[in-house]
Amino acid sequence: MDPDARNGWQLAQHEGAVELRAPGDAPGRGLRADWSQLRLPDGASSLRGQPLGRAVGSSARTAIDATAGLGFDTFAMAAMGVQVRAIERNDWVLALLRQAHAWALADAKLKPIAERITIEQGDAHALLAAAQPVDVVLLDPMFPAKKKADAKPPKAMQALSAVVGDDGDADALLMLALAVARQRVVVKRARHAPPLGNLQRAWTIEGKVLRFDVYRALA
Ligand SMILES: C[S@@+](CC[C@H](N)C(=O)[O-])C[C@H]1O[C@@H](n2cnc3c(N)ncnc32)[C@H](O)[C@@H]1O
Repeated sequence: MDPDARNGWQLAQHEGAVELRAPGDAPGRGLRADWSQLRLPDGASSLRGQPLGRAVGSSARTAIDATAGLGFDTFAMAAMGVQVRAIERNDWVLALLRQAHAWALADAKLKPIAERITIEQGDAHALLAAAQPVDVVLLDPMFPAKKKADAKPPKAMQALSAVVGDDGDADALLMLALAVARQRVVVKRARHAPPLGNLQRAWTIEGKVLRFDVYRALA
């Protein structure tokens, strides 16, 4: 596995599992992406009532998660019955994502959901420009964390910040996504983050720390 460290973090294997280790993490203590840890409400209909589900909409059947990261939103959309194409460009994050997918495929309960997911490595700018239309495109690019001494982000966010940094080129994804989406584009943002790009949002679903900006498809 890649022996390089990025900001002191390392991608490593422990007992067959890929993990991202923070500086000082012992083997086995690193971050893993494990979708079985997601506490999903029972059934697709209750998921569709949650903020992500409301943002994605009840009639979505196909989606592209253009900034898949660790795949938790990918998995949640798939659990709603949506076929999801997940795109991730960072090789370390992709390794965790593929591991999560493989574990889910090997789990009898999660398998039917995982089978709705395909994972691709690449830059969403190029892949969206060449993509077939889907009902919904989800964008969740990295945005700088708000500086607050008492608020330490959870380990997943710390890891992503360390190995991915900020996705400073994300604004252009919105127009590309709108060209591919038949129904809508959903942008997940930290509450304090400015909207992506420079377009009028159709509506916003606000959570405590997050919000979902929804854009209507162009056509
Ligand atoms: C905040 S994370 C996404 C978290 C994800 N929603 C989840 O549930 O785990 C953003 C991810 O998008 C990826 N990303 C950003 N811009 C991208 C692009 N243009 N193409 C592909 N991946 C991109 C980053 O590498 C990072 O892993």
